[in-house]
Amino acid sequence: MASNEKRETFSSGLAVFFATLGSAVGLGNIWKFPYLTGQNGGGAFLLVYFLCIVFVGLPVMMSEFYIGRTARKNAIGAFKAIMPGTLWKHVGTMGVLATYLIMFFYSCVAGWVYFYLFKALTGELSGITMEGAKAQFGSVIMGPWSPILWQCIVMAVVSGILIMGVKQGIEKITKTLMPLLFVLILACDLRALTLPGAWEGVRFLFHVDFSQLSGAAVLTALGLAFFKLSLGLGCMITYSSYFTEDNNMLGTAAKVAFSDTLVSLLAGLAIFPAVFAFGMEPGAGPGLLFMTLPLVFAQMPLGNLLLIAFFFLASIAATTAMLSLVEVPVAYCIEERGMSRTGAAVFNGILIAGVGVLATLSVDPSSLLGQMTFMGRGFFDWFDYLSSNILLPIGGLLTAIFVGYLMPREQVVAELTNQGRLAMAGMVGMLYSILRYVTPVLLIVVFLASVGLVKL
Ligand code: PFF
Repeated sequence: MASNEKRETFSSGLAVFFATLGSAVGLGNIWKFPYLTGQNGGGAFLLVYFLCIVFVGLPVMMSEFYIGRTARKNAIGAFKAIMPGTLWKHVGTMGVLATYLIMFFYSCVAGWVYFYLFKALTGELSGITMEGAKAQFGSVIMGPWSPILWQCIVMAVVSGILIMGVKQGIEKITKTLMPLLFVLILACDLRALTLPGAWEGVRFLFHVDFSQLSGAAVLTALGLAFFKLSLGLGCMITYSSYFTEDNNMLGTAAKVAFSDTLVSLLAGLAIFPAVFAFGMEPGAGPGLLFMTLPLVFAQMPLGNLLLIAFFFLASIAATTAMLSLVEVPVAYCIEERGMSRTGAAVFNGILIAGVGVLATLSVDPSSLLGQMTFMGRGFFDWFDYLSSNILLPIGGLLTAIFVGYLMPREQVVAELTNQGRLAMAGMVGMLYSILRYVTPVLLIVVFLASVGLVKL
């Protein structure tokens, strides 16, 4: 689609909701959220995370929705359209860069998830032992060829769906798969919560202990909130540029933030009770999903079926989130570089799989890249750290300043109330004030703390 052709939009409010939720729900809920909560002490971390969602996540999401639907353009084009001839377009450029960094490692983890689903389907994981679980994870991440192959399969699936466009691709897939994901996760919860000793895991998740909460953990919670809600990199700008005129965007933001957090908690409730019931280590780190879970499920009746369900839902989550990530550069390439949708989706798929190989090989201890670290981090960890902890919070801060200080209040209220048709001017006004006075301060303090300039 060249920029002068008619731009696609989602077809209804429900489509908007599922697509946006599809972006938010991803490996973040199933992989990052549980292990970060595990490592940072459970309930106290959760509480900080909730505060980050309300005081930072929601206002920034509202800002991105405002920018996207007002401009109806990609992440860079939107800033150009609203503030022509200024440097603000580079907030979009930074967003595209962050999108690539995330995709480099995200497509690698998604590849592992697909591979585990395949292994679960072929019955290779049933009856697995502790040693076996470790060996399985080793064989999945150990290359060179199989993790790279799975990463390429992931990118082929994502690009293939994006080629079909906003309505036929993104909308159709998310509307079908998101409800299924809910059903699958509830099935896993039901099983995990009825295990003897499951209560320990529930207590672990909700027990509040502030002594475990460090400054670094607060930054992690903030980074996680951004990553979870797909904020700070223009993803929500891109998606909202496809929203319908009559969408209640504040309602969408609230419903998405709520449902996404619910999915994270449901994932935690499927994982921790099972982990405790079988005496595993809740703070096991990134391997929690891949090593602990197969082991836990293997020991239950109907375990293999649950494993298939779990890795299927994880594959759905990863795929719908990647659709929204890759759509950021795809929309840019179509609208600013004059590419066709097919060309843009194929080009970005190849680019991400190509550079993403660095992340994939860097977690394989037997490869040359696996032994290379720069300041203690390999490629995989650098991509993750730079995007989640640095670029997303900076992108979020600049977006908050852009809307909170450069866009007149009446204009923001008008757009978010659909020119006064929605009776929620008071609510929007309140969020606008939070956006001006609370969000930037929180972001700056946490950011300075993370680089060691302020002590939290
Ligand atoms: N929100 C997704 C998750 O939690 O897995 C990841 C993500 C998607 C991050 C889209 C950023 C983004 F733009």
